[in-house]
Parts: sequence; C-alpha cells; structure tokens
Amino acid sequence: MTGNRVSGIHTPLSLSALPLLLAVLARPAADSLCAAHATLADPSLYCLPLLSTDQAPSAQGTAVMQLAPGPFGLAVDRDGRVQLQVALTLSGLPEPQSLGPYDAFVAWATTPELQPMIRLGPVWNGRTLTRTITLERFLIMVSAEASPRARVRKGPLVLRGSSPSLLMAPHGVTQLPPRVGGDHHHETGGWTMPLMHPQVSRMPFGLERFRPQVTPFLPGDGGGTPPMAAEGRVYRLADGDTITLTAGRVLHLLGKDSLVMYAYDGQLPGPRLELAQGSTVTVRFRNRTDLPSSIHWHGLRLDNGSDGVPGLTQPPVPPGGEFVYRVHAPDAGLFWYHPHHRSDVAQDLGLAGNIVVRGRADGRPGGQDVYLMLDDLLMGEDGLVPYGHEAATHSLMGRFGNRLLVNAAESWSLNARTGEPLRLHLTNSASARTFNVSLEGRELKVLGSDAGTYAVPRSAASIVIAPSERYVAEVRFDRPGKYALLNRVRGIDRMTGRFFAEVDTLGFVMVGAGTRRESVAFRSVPDSAAQLARAFRGRAPDRVLFLTLRTRHLPFALIQALRLDTAFVQPVEWTSTMPMMDWLSTGQEVTWVIRDSASGAEGMDVDWRVPRGKPLVVRLVNDKHVLHPMGHPIHLHGQRFVVLARNGVANSDPVWKDTALVPAGGTVDLLVDASSPGRWMLHCHIAEHLESGMHTVLTVE
Ligand code: C2O
Ligand code: CU
Repeated sequence: MTGNRVSGIHTPLSLSALPLLLAVLARPAADSLCAAHATLADPSLYCLPLLSTDQAPSAQGTAVMQLAPGPFGLAVDRDGRVQLQVALTLSGLPEPQSLGPYDAFVAWATTPELQPMIRLGPVWNGRTLTRTITLERFLIMVSAEASPRARVRKGPLVLRGSSPSLLMAPHGVTQLPPRVGGDHHHETGGWTMPLMHPQVSRMPFGLERFRPQVTPFLPGDGGGTPPMAAEGRVYRLADGDTITLTAGRVLHLLGKDSLVMYAYDGQLPGPRLELAQGSTVTVRFRNRTDLPSSIHWHGLRLDNGSDGVPGLTQPPVPPGGEFVYRVHAPDAGLFWYHPHHRSDVAQDLGLAGNIVVRGRADGRPGGQDVYLMLDDLLMGEDGLVPYGHEAATHSLMGRFGNRLLVNAAESWSLNARTGEPLRLHLTNSASARTFNVSLEGRELKVLGSDAGTYAVPRSAASIVIAPSERYVAEVRFDRPGKYALLNRVRGIDRMTGRFFAEVDTLGFVMVGAGTRRESVAFRSVPDSAAQLARAFRGRAPDRVLFLTLRTRHLPFALIQALRLDTAFVQPVEWTSTMPMMDWLSTGQEVTWVIRDSASGAEGMDVDWRVPRGKPLVVRLVNDKHVLHPMGHPIHLHGQRFVVLARNGVANSDPVWKDTALVPAGGTVDLLVDASSPGRWMLHCHIAEHLESGMHTVLTVE
C-alpha cells in the first residue's frame, strides 16, 4: 500500500477510512506463514501468524483456528460465540533450558485485557491440536515454563499473535458529523424507512439521503380487504391423493400491526403436509397473488418437472394461473415448500409450509412433536418495509427482519409435561437470518437434520440453523416451569469494534407436572450418510465452486462504509446492525457469483453435467475478499449430500443434507449423491442472494 492511495481520498470520509488503512498496513507480513492453509480457509480469518520475541528470535509459527466439530454448519456456544479449536504449528523453538530454569513451552489464549489466561497446553516444534476457545478478541501466546503442566503463565514469552478481530478499530465516531434526519418528514420516495438497530446508534455519515434504486412494492393494492389469516393446519395425505393449494392475500395481525401478506390456503404458516415415505401426491397449485409464482418442494428428490423452478423446470405461474405438481417423497425427513420466483418477496410474506415424510421404519415415539418455522419480518415506522419491484433490495447482506417469528407469530407458546420428551422440528424459512436457538437452561439432543438421522445424537446447548436448513432435537424437563425459547447471537458494532449480545425471546414452553417417564424410540434407522462419508474422506474435489461478489454503481459513500467492515467478518452474519445501509443495495448493483474454478464459467453458464449414480465431491469456497463477505447457506435441488469437511477438517457428524452453510472465508466439501436425473439448481438460500444471481445448474444425466 502506498502513500498515493491515502492522499487520493479527498472526501470527508478520509477521516473514517484512516483506521482501516492503518489496520491493513499493520497486518503482519508473516501472513505468508498461513499460506499453506489458504486453500482450505482464508488465512486472514482462520489463521494467525505468531511472531517471535527477543527471547527466542528464531521461533516462528501459526495458529490455525479450526471450526470446532459438531452437528451444525458452525459450532457456537449458547450465546452464539464461535467455537474455535486452536491448532499450533511451530518451528525454531530452542531447548527451553537455554532460556533459563524451564522445561517446556506452554501455549495460552487470552483477551487483550489479559484476563482470563486460558491454558491451551504444552507445545513443541511441529503441529499440536489444542483446546477449543470461544474468545472473540484474543491473543495467542507461547511461553517457556518450568513444567509442561504449568497452570499459570510465569516464564518468558517466546511467540505471540493476535486474532483477526483485533484488526477492527473504532471508526473515530467522535469525529463524525452528527446524523441528519430524525425528523420523519423528509422525502421518502414512497418508502417506509428501516429503523436503526437498538444497540448501534450511529451509521456511517453520508448515507441518510440514499434510497434503493427500485420502485417500492407491497401486496394489496387492489381487490378489497383480504380475509384474516388462519393458523397453519395439517393435511394428512395418502399415496395417490390430490389436493389444491391456493396462494393468495391474507390479513395478518402482528402485535398492533395489521399486515397484508400472502398465504397458502389462507394459513400462516402454510398447511403442513404429512405423508408416508415412498408416496406420491398430486398438488394443483393456484396462484392468486400479484406476482408470478411456483412451488418448490425443498429437499424432495422428485421428478425434475415438478421441482418448481421457473425458467428451468417450468414457466412461471402467472397471477390467476395454475400448475400441477407430482410430489414424490422417497426419503423420510423434514422438508418444506415455498415459491421459487421472487422468494425475497413471496416467501418472506408468508408462502412457506412444512412437509413431514414419515419413514417406513420409524418407531412410534412417545412424547410430543412440535413443528416450528423460524422466520423474521422487517418492519419500519409505518408497517412493512416495502420490497423492490424491479429487483430485490438488501442484495448485499440479505433482508434481516427486526421482528422474529415462530409459526408467523411473535408470541409462540406450548404446554409440555415433566418427563415427557418434546421433539422440536425446526425449519428456518427466513430470507437471510441464521438462528442460534436454545431453550433456557435445557440441553437439546440433536436427532436429525434435513433428510437425515444422526448415527450418534449429540447433546447441544443451542441449535445453529441457517436459512432453509432443518433440525430435529429432543428436550426433556425435570421441573415444572416456564422455559423461554431464545435466539442468542453476537452482533458487532462496527463503529466501535465492539461485540455485543443480541437476545430475542421467540416464545415459551409451559411445563406442568407429568406422571410418568416415557421412553422414546425416534427413527432409529442408521443413516447411510456416515458410511459413505467415511469411504470418501480426504478425496480430492471433482469440482471447485467459488462463491464471490461483483458490484457496480453503488453510492461511493456506501462503498466506503462497507470497506471499513471487511477488516474482520464473522463466519456467519447473525444480525443487521446497520439496517439503513443494508437496505440500499439492490440486484441492479449487486451480482453474487458462483464460479467454476476450473473453467471460469459463472452462474447458469457453468455447463456442469454428471452421470447418474456416481458420487461427486464438490468443494465450495467462500471468497472473503469482497465488498461484503458473508456466510452462504448453499442448497442443491433434487439430490442429497453429506458434508465431508469444513475448512479441511473432517465432519464429525455426517448426515443426509440438502443445504450446507459455508462460512465467510471458509470451504465446505460435499459428497453429492447424484441420484435423480434432470437439471437441478444449486444456489444460496439467502433470498436476496438468489435474486442477485447466486445460482448455477447441475445436470444429472
Ligand atoms: Cu428452498 Cu431453491 O430452494
Ligand atoms: Cu448467499
């Protein structure tokens, strides 16, 4: 970086850009030590160089932060802090005795305040896999100690490094001019403005006057007052049944707000379809919304012609039109259905429902099964923030809502009994939000996900569920009481470089005294995914897909503000801390890209054909060096896959999935069971990313 670059900025923003430049300049040149790691995970997020001190000038090393193992796309603690397993690779360490009365080297992790000092364990030249930490801003140190069992750091420091998050510097908030606006009478151009995040009070200067460069869209202009939405019902379907599903407008009460939304058969969420494994039903879909539509049966390996992707497997169903689907369910599991045209609008407005496929070998477990669709809605001062008519708004980060919903309601509740197992069947139908769900004080036993059952159910404090994923978890209560269902995540205030807790109460389980302890036999069928994963472990990828971003014509102030953000990004963006800023980018300025690394072809031009029946290893690489790096939940239609590895570390809990979360700057290796012929979409399930080009097609021949 040269002085030219610094002096080239003449706008008032140069002040706030300065800390970034300093942070970039301060990035140690020893980054190259992490280069070996770079094909598996971006070194600037997952690897930190360790620098020597005067005590042992020849010493050097790296600390690779591996994503901790577990059943989820990302291992976090109950609060949403990422669990990182620290692997140290060291060289050039002298004999400890040469430094004084020392017998060993010991590694430590600590905060910038040096409190607490966490012992990682003894280390030596070579690679050592140490323990898991959940620190967000941290230092790694290696010291010489009298004993490898030293509990307290006393001896001289020989190596030290700092976490990538420490590159985030406060943006000189005191030097920024005060925010204009605050009066609600300025020109809004027909938009309802997003509200500020309650815990982040400032936004980058200069963005207040911008609006998304599209026309605002909301349903309900015409056709009179729609009927009130009903609660979601269950449609139990037998093999060969025919039903009709009608998408139309409804009126939905959310707190004090009365919203015009969309619903299938007037129900929010849409009716839950229950059918037996192996059965086929006919669904006549009628579109009575104001948008073209379709139904995609997410996760079902059905006939390509019924996959519901306009432009690929069928023409869009126009308002007033119909389409008939043959819905076949070869796999047991938890699935869902939603539109595949402008899902950023139509799915967000309520078009989503579960599909439960009962396995042939499923037991009849005691206890209670409950189905929760997790979602959010973005409300402004005057109701729903409109959607973009010509293209999606929120194209960079996705549309995060500020009202969190369970089954379309803000106050979900359930009665349960002590001793009686409760199984939560979770589906994330949100456009962009990844949830970290917990039940106050209870451990969750994770039984399954998507189309799979874990060979070994794990105990977890919380469930990380990215858009379009599903998880099944069991919980038991020993004591009567009121237990809150919580979403606990970590936000970053980028203006101050501070992490903070964001906690939302999604609902309550009211537990009364039960009489007996029920035993449980939940889908005990062992999952074939584990076997297959073992056979393909370490296999080189057949295809590498690179996930990246291109932008054009974005306001300069927005680009500047976003650049300040990329010194550090979370593996998963949990929340929107700058709702005004996130709102501005549209699909006209933003193109999210899936690129075939071998040919350079992108999106629908990737001519990707594979023979049926041959398992395929696909590596997804998430580019961190873009204007707005993010985790992407990648979904493949019509096939199932197993996650083989994340950032090069073998997956400890293989299961049949159709969606995998690829963390920012990370890689995920999938083993695809290419079993159903046809043209199948692979895309990011953040609705605004899908709308902004983040899709490609796999042809199974
Ligand atoms: Cu849940 Cu392409 O879809
Ligand atoms: Cu994405």
